[in-house]
Amino acid sequence: MPQELIRRNREWAGKVNADAPAYFTELSKLQKPDYFWVGCADARVPANVIAGLQPGEVFVHRNVANVVHSSDMNLLSALDFAINGLDIRKVIVCGHYGCGGVNAACEHGHGHGLVDHWIEPIRALTRSHGEELGDLATEEARDRLVELNVRASVNRIADTPILKEAWANGDSVAVHGMVYSLRKGHLYLLENASRSG
Ligand code: CO
Repeated sequence: MPQELIRRNREWAGKVNADAPAYFTELSKLQKPDYFWVGCADARVPANVIAGLQPGEVFVHRNVANVVHSSDMNLLSALDFAINGLDIRKVIVCGHYGCGGVNAACEHGHGHGLVDHWIEPIRALTRSHGEELGDLATEEARDRLVELNVRASVNRIADTPILKEAWANGDSVAVHGMVYSLRKGHLYLLENASRSG
């Protein structure tokens, strides 16, 4: 029931207030996060929690399987505001092993409804990297696909006019690919998956 959320909220706000009485008034004055995070909507990968960040420290966009579609107005609006409104200089694309959206893209045939349209770029990766990924039956192959999807999202963000313009202006914005292990609770920086001006 939603009342349960209200109860938990008051409990949380009470604790925060007891520890730091100025916390909410200070935070309400200014949003100044260092990071823009593009991650999966999976309930197990909340950006603030897994990155050890407080409210106010990360501006977040999440969708199924952290896919970047070049025409996604939701993501583009958030990206534009992050770079040009909030002056954020660190963009993180974070995937996670065991991603349900990535797993769905590994299955033969469709049948997931609208989400099949959404994850089509991941299916495209299974075709373009078919030799390396094989029939995607192993966990290793699916983990590799998770990483390839992060790289593709990093590149698609880097190729937006928003990033091109920032770099043309000499802004030191960087886009980094990361992956999260549900089993270990650890974040990893993907090698050679960063783009900067
Ligand atoms: Co996921």
